[in-house]
Amino acid sequence: MSSSHTLDNIFSNNRRWAEDVQRDHPDFFPRLEKQQSPEYLWIGCADSRVSANEIMGLLPGEVFVHRNVANVVVHTDFNCLSVLQYAIDVLQVKHVIVTGHYGCGGVRAALENRSMGLIDNWLRNIKDVYFKHENLVTHLSADESAELLCEINVREQVGNVCHTTILQDAWKRGQTVTVHGLIYSLHDGILNDLDVNVSGMQDIPSIYRMYSDTEMLARLPSQRRRLKPGVAQDAQQQ
Ligand code: CO
Repeated sequence: MSSSHTLDNIFSNNRRWAEDVQRDHPDFFPRLEKQQSPEYLWIGCADSRVSANEIMGLLPGEVFVHRNVANVVVHTDFNCLSVLQYAIDVLQVKHVIVTGHYGCGGVRAALENRSMGLIDNWLRNIKDVYFKHENLVTHLSADESAELLCEINVREQVGNVCHTTILQDAWKRGQTVTVHGLIYSLHDGILNDLDVNVSGMQDIPSIYRMYSDTEMLARLPSQRRRLKPGVAQDAQQQ
């Protein structure tokens, strides 16, 4: 059987990697086997070019990861919510990092009027983001519009993370956790901060809050975000 029909290269790569790690860091696997204590939860695109550990230069055990097409956080997605809940409540990560990337195929597909099957329903979430912020992108070229929508989508998904009961319950009990929005460039491999940093319920619109201000008692001297999540910069300035 030719190698194209087997996973031989993957197994040989794996054996080499495991040997290298054991040689250079003999305590690495015994330590990881006992427990993981990542400080970060990464919510990113399933795109094969956007690998969380490699981009951030982190080792196994340092980042908990959830990926789907176009890094979308949907309130009825049991998978994403379960990852989020486990990361916040059990692993007690300090940072939730929503990362989009320019040139996202999911975002581009959402801007087109063609069917690719079941995934059309998933990409509807991106179409909703576009429709909500259509005034920001309609005057742009198709490429510029797609790139800006990648950024706007990250802001929207940061908002969606913050609106969950999971984050709000964590903040209510005084847990320190910040939600960030980042964008990655396939062009040069650079990760940029979109300056959406949310670390408390005071930073989300009141309609989404599960608790009143008095219930919250404003426990956390949070790092204030400069932009509201779920709102594009231009829209906020209008
Ligand atoms: Co993508």
